[in-house]
Amino acid sequence: MTAVDTVGQAGSERATFLLPKHAYLDAGWYAREQRELFGKVWNLVAAEIDLPEPGDVLPVQVGCHPVLLVRGTDGVIRGYLNMCRHRGMALACEAGHAGANVRCPYHGWEFAADDGSLVRIPQRSGQFADTDPNAWALLPVAVQSWAGLVFCNPDPDAAPLEEFLGELPQRIGPFDPLRLTQVARLRVPLRCNWKLYIENHIDVLHLWYLHADSLGMFDHAGFAHDWVGPHWVSDEVLRPGADRPRGAMLPIAHIPDEERDVLRANLIFPNVPTSSSETMWITYQVVPTGPETSELDIRVLGEPGSQLDAESEATLLAVLRDEDGFAVEQIQRVLRSPKFAVGPLASAHELPITRFHRLLLERLA
Ligand code: FES
Ligand SMILES: [Fe+2]
Repeated sequence: MTAVDTVGQAGSERATFLLPKHAYLDAGWYAREQRELFGKVWNLVAAEIDLPEPGDVLPVQVGCHPVLLVRGTDGVIRGYLNMCRHRGMALACEAGHAGANVRCPYHGWEFAADDGSLVRIPQRSGQFADTDPNAWALLPVAVQSWAGLVFCNPDPDAAPLEEFLGELPQRIGPFDPLRLTQVARLRVPLRCNWKLYIENHIDVLHLWYLHADSLGMFDHAGFAHDWVGPHWVSDEVLRPGADRPRGAMLPIAHIPDEERDVLRANLIFPNVPTSSSETMWITYQVVPTGPETSELDIRVLGEPGSQLDAESEATLLAVLRDEDGFAVEQIQRVLRSPKFAVGPLASAHELPITRFHRLLLERLA
């Protein structure tokens, strides 16, 4: 980890805002991201608990691709393009239970949950006598899980999720999300491009100012961060004698005592911030919903038996929504001015933004 008090991580790299203004406004840029970035990266699409039973289905959107997650009779979660091979109807439009076969609501074709094979064509002998069912299985999409989270990559040439995450699972601190339970899911609509929220997440400088009260108990001067492949990890500790943020959630039992004063904030590239404290481990995915809109999809994990009490929820949303969300929504509004321009960036504290932009531009090239 690198302390970021004086110099930038790469030494020679200059903190520069590399993306043009239209990257935050333009429908064409948005479509290119959907196709070239989200269509070719491992996207967080669900948690395993969203499909608790064999036969459960959940439609999700991955870049331009509608995908149907299906928990097979063997318990494995798989993904198929959510497109009937007959005329293209979506096989499911909401979470539900399909059983061993997924049945298209339009003309009743049925596909096996476990391998997507076409197992039934109604009126086959009269209307589809020449059709070979073996040629019309559902189209598979890569799905893999980590830490109870389900990821999907529509790119047929994608490297495995394990390779994409690299050493990230070992760099998130002593947390085992599989030993925690989801205690809340909160969704916050944002009137801003998704990248503004991510840039804010990896901007060290704003901690002193935007979060002067809400995070003032942490020692920002000792903030340390690092890149793990395209992912970002950070930590900072409580000031000596400062009180931890209050709340009534149970402390996480499996972390060592020295972790209890640490606040971690990480980024699973490209759009999944995570953070952890003594009582919670959270993901807050910034889901793009349009060039100038997104949605914060927050999952709060805690010790089994814990609940997200009102004070903990208010503390969490004060930072993520009322401070971070508010700031980036204001930037989005100002962006529309013809006079909008980004000035100089802090040489070290805003350098992660430069790296994030490079990672995006490489994928959009
Ligand atoms: S579109 Fe699915 S059965 Fe016709
Ligand atoms: Fe923030």
